[in-house]
Amino acid sequence: MPEATAIKRMFEGVAPRYDLLNRVLSLGIDRSWRERVVALLELEPSHHVLDLCCGTGDLALAIAPFARCTACDFTWNMLTRARGKSLAAGRPVGLAAADALELPFGSALFDRATVAFGVRNLEDMPAGLREIRRVLRPGGRLAILEFSQPHRLWLKLPYRLYLDGLLPLVGGLLSRRGEAYRYLAESIRGFPQPEVLKDMLLDAGFASVRYERLTGGIVAIHLADA
Ligand SMILES: C[S@@+](CC[C@H](N)C(=O)[O-])C[C@H]1O[C@@H](n2cnc3c(N)ncnc32)[C@H](O)[C@@H]1O
Repeated sequence: MPEATAIKRMFEGVAPRYDLLNRVLSLGIDRSWRERVVALLELEPSHHVLDLCCGTGDLALAIAPFARCTACDFTWNMLTRARGKSLAAGRPVGLAAADALELPFGSALFDRATVAFGVRNLEDMPAGLREIRRVLRPGGRLAILEFSQPHRLWLKLPYRLYLDGLLPLVGGLLSRRGEAYRYLAESIRGFPQPEVLKDMLLDAGFASVRYERLTGGIVAIHLADA
């Protein structure tokens, strides 16, 4: 795992093209993954949600119609884009510039927490999960949306070709930051399998954890109740 300053520099660089690349590289399916996260959160209007590693704010904007949302990231270029999108959409989202490993919030403050494609980048993932548990109230819920490895046999080979070939090629061409998309492929390959992440969440102090795979196992959503 590269150190946090290198991660930050990388995301500052890809921010201008981040949304375009997300849509192209996921063929637009990423929207439906975020919608599924929102459904699983079982939001109520009184809820306060913390969206960590918010990037350009797509998940926070999907949450905003249903509950109050504070979106947090340590990359300035990402946050300014999230702010612009929130204003343009007329969906207010609170924004916080902060490191997910050292959140500037009191304990047991949030009803829900979310991280989409973010925990993979944390320099110390177990510490990050404990920090999220700390800011969630008892009975609160965390949803993690992350890439995984397909469990469908027929998808394994095409996915490997995609990760090793198409993703770095298209990502590099469109973003002009080839190293960022090589890192993306590597970090997906190195990310724990769903059962392992489930155990990590239990070790971090969550009372119960379940997960579901989407799109043949390309991504997984973990739901951890505090
Ligand atoms: C792949 S992007 C995901 C953005 C967004 N959640 C989405 O679904 O498109 C990962 C984001 O995590 C942020 N990030 C990585 N490590 C972080 C940390 N330690 N603290 C806060 N943000 C972090 C990066 O700045 C980047 O915006």
